[in-house]
Formats: sequence, structure tokens, C-alpha cells
Amino acid sequence: MGWLTKTLTSSIGKKVLMALTGLFLCTFLVVHLIGNLQLFKSDGGYAFNTYAVFMTTFPVIKVVSYVNYALILFHAFWGIYITYKNRQARPVGYAVNKNSSSIFSRSMAILGLILLVYLVVHMSDFWYRYHYEHLPYVKYTENLTTGDITTTAMDEGYTQVVKKFEISDVAAGTKTIIVKDLYKVVGYAFQNILLVLFYVLAMFAVSFHLIHGFQSAFQTLGLNHPKYSPLIKNLGIWIFAILIPIGYAAMPLYFYFLK
Ligand code: HEM
Repeated sequence: MGWLTKTLTSSIGKKVLMALTGLFLCTFLVVHLIGNLQLFKSDGGYAFNTYAVFMTTFPVIKVVSYVNYALILFHAFWGIYITYKNRQARPVGYAVNKNSSSIFSRSMAILGLILLVYLVVHMSDFWYRYHYEHLPYVKYTENLTTGDITTTAMDEGYTQVVKKFEISDVAAGTKTIIVKDLYKVVGYAFQNILLVLFYVLAMFAVSFHLIHGFQSAFQTLGLNHPKYSPLIKNLGIWIFAILIPIGYAAMPLYFYFLK
């Protein structure tokens, strides 16, 4: 085990841990975005709310979620630690580095800190409320013949022990589902222009962090190839620094301006 500790605490080992955790978090960003796209459906939140139940109850996904929380914390605090150690070792390094590295690479730590603040706000707004607070419930009744869905808000004080209550009435040809209305909570939160602006600005931080971060992770892992490196660089820029942040930023903007 000695070699492992030695490798991981060497200066390249420290960066390898940042690269591996960073790439895992990039995968999370893609999955989270695809899941959240259900917010754009005009179905009264049916797809989004049932998706939220699935994501928070399916055992394998629950385990991956806990790994994800741990890796977010690790990536953030390990990044702060590495930056601190680098500054200690090379107090004038910034001035020396200035010409040889891009503004994005020099801003990784500050952008990461902005994202950590964003995540605290974001998770207390949605994740914490969904898991630990009393939220409104909503009932969806689906006509099994036509596929039409009727949405009914439950009374304010209504609560249930299970996350999703589902009953099929074969005689009536309907399926009824009662779930927490996270869709309503998201829609309500994004009526606040300050929160909308905060989200949009935070997505610039995601973008700038990943312009450098995505391709740098591959370099750190030694995955350099004259043919594939430009492809990875473009993937980092077009998918992770442009498309994904735009997709996320579109959500608060959609609820504020169009809902
Ligand atoms: C701007 C659009 C976004 C919306 C509408 C949104 C929405 C949500 C909602 C509703 C939840 C709670 C439901 C759940 O726990 O699955 C959640 C959880 C979470 N969000 Fe977001 N999110 C957005 C962007 C982001 C971004 C950019 C990040 C990362 C930088 C992020 C990281 C997380 C994390 C780590 C969780 C906890 C996931 C889990 O429990 O496994 N979100 N998000």
C-alpha cells in the first residue's frame, strides 16, 4: 500500500486524482442535464416528478449518488489543498506562469470555489427540500386508453409515507400516481430574477472551468495523441464549455420568461 500512498501524494499523483474525479463529475453533468431536460415537457411535471422519484429510490442510483457527493467534496477540497501547496512552494509562481498558461488554467481554483458556492445554494434549494422538507403533492391520473394525463394538486397538508403512490383502476381504465411536486418547486424558485441571474452566471463558471479542465484531465492522465488530442480539446470546448452550460442556463430562463 506504501507505493499507492506515495504515488497519490506525489505532485503528479495529486493531479491524477483531480483528473479522475473531474472526469467523473463531467459524466454526472451530462446525466443530470439529460434528466433535467424533462422540465421542458408540457405535461404538468409528470415526467420530471416521476424521474425524480426513480433517481432517489432506485438502489444502484442511490449508491452512485453518494459516491457523487463524496467525489464533489473530494474534488473541491483536494483542489483547494493542491492550490495552497503550489502557492506555498512557489510564492512568485503566478508571475512566472502568467505568460505560459491561459487565463482559464490560472483561474481553475477560483472558478471551482464559485461552483462550490453554487452547489451549496443549489442543493439546499432543491435536493435538501426534496429530501427533508414538506413539499406539495400532485396527483396524475392517466387514461390508459388515450394516454391523456389529468393533473390535480393535492391539499396543502397532504402527505404520504412512500415517495410514489401508484394505483391502477382496471375497470375505470386509469392509472393514478401521487408524488412530491418538485417540478412546482423548481418552477417557483425560478420566478426569482436574482436566483435566475445567479444560475446563469454560475453556468459561465462551469463553462470556463471546463474549457481548460476537460482537456487538461486527459493530459494529466497521459492520454496524449496527435490525432485524438485536438478532438478531445474540441469536445471539451463545444460539448462541456458551450452546449452543456447553455442547456443548464436555459432552464431558469425558460421558467422565468416562458412559464
Ligand atoms: C441549472 C439547471 C439545473 C437544474 C434545474 C437542476 C435541478 C436539480 C434538482 C431539481 C435537483 C434535486 C433532485 C435530485 O436530487 O435529483 C438537483 C440535484 C443536484 N444537482 Fe442540479 N440542477 C441544475 C444544474 C446543476 C449543475 C450545473 C450542477 C453541477 C455543477 C448540479 C448538481 C446537482 C447535484 C450534485 C445534485 C444532487 C444529485 C443527487 O441527489 O444525486 N445541478 N438538481
